Amino acid sequence: MPKLRPSDPEEKSQFESAMRPESLFPYGGGSAICSGRFFAKQEILAAVVLIVLKFEIEPRGWFTHHGKKSIREAKPDEGFAGAGVLPPDQDMLVTLRVK
Ligand code: HEM
Repeated sequence: MPKLRPSDPEEKSQFESAMRPESLFPYGGGSAICSGRFFAKQEILAAVVLIVLKFEIEPRGWFTHHGKKSIREAKPDEGFAGAGVLPPDQDMLVTLRVK
C-alpha cells in the first residue's frame, strides 16, 4: 500500500479508512497507556468468534442512525475526532439466525 499523507485533502479520507495498525490508538499511549488492553483485545476477539460461530449473519443494508435507508456505505464519523477511535457514521442492519 502506498504511503498516504493525512495532510493532503485528497488523501485524508483514504488515510482515515486505511485501518493500518500504526494509525489506530484506541488504548492511548505513553506512560498512561491502557493497562487492560491485552485483556480487552482477548475479550473482543472471543466475543466476535462466538458471534461468527453461533449465528448466520445476513447483511440488510446501510441505515442512518435515525433509521433511514442509505445508499452509501459507512465511513469513520469525524465528529469523534480526538476520541481515540472514530465509530462508523452509519449502521449496517443485519438479520441474525442461530445456526
Ligand atoms: C476496548 C476496551 C478498552 C479501551 C478502548 C480502553 C481505552 C483506554 C484509554 C484510551 C485509556 C487512557 C490511556 C491514556 O491516557 O493514554 C485507558 C486507560 C486505562 N485503562 Fe483502558 N480501555 C479498555 C479496556 C480496559 C480494561 C478491560 C481494563 C481493565 C481490566 C482497563 C484498564 C485501564 C486502566 C487501569 C487505565 C489507566 C492506566 C494508567 O493511567 O496508567 N481498560 N484505557
